[in-house]
Amino acid sequence: KSAKIAKIRTPIVCVLGHVDHGKTSLLDRIRGSSVVSSEAGAITQHIGATLVPIEAIRAMSTSMQKIPVTVPGLLFIDTPGHHAFTTLRARGGALADMAIVVVDINEGFQPQTIEALQILRGCKTPFVVALTKIDRVHGWRVVENAPFLTTFAQQNERIQEFMETRHYEIVGKLSDLGFNCERFDRVQDFARNIAIVPISAHTGEGIADLLMVMIGLAQRYMEQSLAMSVDGPGCGTVLEVKEERGLGPTLDVILYDGTLSVGDEIMLASEDGVITTKVRSLLKPRPMKEILTEERFERVKSVVAASGVKVAAPNLDRVIAGSPLRGVRGDREAVATQIRQEMEEIHVKL
Ligand code: GTP
Ligand code: MG
Repeated sequence: KSAKIAKIRTPIVCVLGHVDHGKTSLLDRIRGSSVVSSEAGAITQHIGATLVPIEAIRAMSTSMQKIPVTVPGLLFIDTPGHHAFTTLRARGGALADMAIVVVDINEGFQPQTIEALQILRGCKTPFVVALTKIDRVHGWRVVENAPFLTTFAQQNERIQEFMETRHYEIVGKLSDLGFNCERFDRVQDFARNIAIVPISAHTGEGIADLLMVMIGLAQRYMEQSLAMSVDGPGCGTVLEVKEERGLGPTLDVILYDGTLSVGDEIMLASEDGVITTKVRSLLKPRPMKEILTEERFERVKSVVAASGVKVAAPNLDRVIAGSPLRGVRGDREAVATQIRQEMEEIHVKL
């Protein structure tokens, strides 16, 4: 019977939220990394991508070791919260199959929290709310890496009451915006209610619950949209155009559909209009590594969606960040028209 379980591709999970609310720290906790400390002023200025394999997720969530999981992992997209980067948040949101909206429990809703919710509503993207920095609540007793309910039971009555009050303030704000939310352990139907998961990126509390809810969402409600479509030509979005020593200009790409291989003909939007070129090499960051900071890429012959990958090819220097990347297998003119249309949607006329 187990042979019947459908194969699904790696879901893309976008992390959105107000500046400094703890998006990169959450990913650092999941990766076991310290990307925040390498950022200028601890401000994220680019879209990042990290593949977290299912084995790593299982290792963090003991309760998940019992349930059958078909998701191969999660591809996390980090976005900047600073108000100047609206375009990057919209780009990240458009790529996402699911999202995590990070809200600092001590600060509550802020302008970019609301902007994030509007992006997700626009794209009809399912999401969960991570109510973070619970360890900063005055008098909090840390139970390192504990599931939320375990640590919550250890807190005194005053803190429990404070948590409930904050929680219902957030539920109220979300309800005003038309979203139906509840704490994750009280959610009966994840298709109807948005789950709120209290966490701390510094102590690991609640992280296992958050991962569990994300995997559950992917498996139960997204199997159809994530059903494997690996045979088609590669479709992706260019995050950045970067000069790499020995390679020349390269593209950091999120591949969200199909397969991209060395030798494939691809089309992109550049300052000179739509261009056609051929993939010369593909460089994959290691699992658990942020593509923005990775130094030891692995050279591969092809990549399957969803992945973050660095693409080297001739004539990339004038490619526009945010451009679609399309593998071509036939009618070039049709693909070019599609690229022009997609660029117009983001208000760039080629
Ligand atoms: P931008 O990318 O610039 O929007 O910020 P961000 O949302 O990625 O926030 P970041 O992860 O850089 O964290 C901002 C600050 O909050 C840092 O000083 C973190 O150490 C701190 N922080 C993040 N999460 C937690 C947490 O769970 N607990 C505590 N105590 N501090 C946290
Ligand atoms: Mg950040």
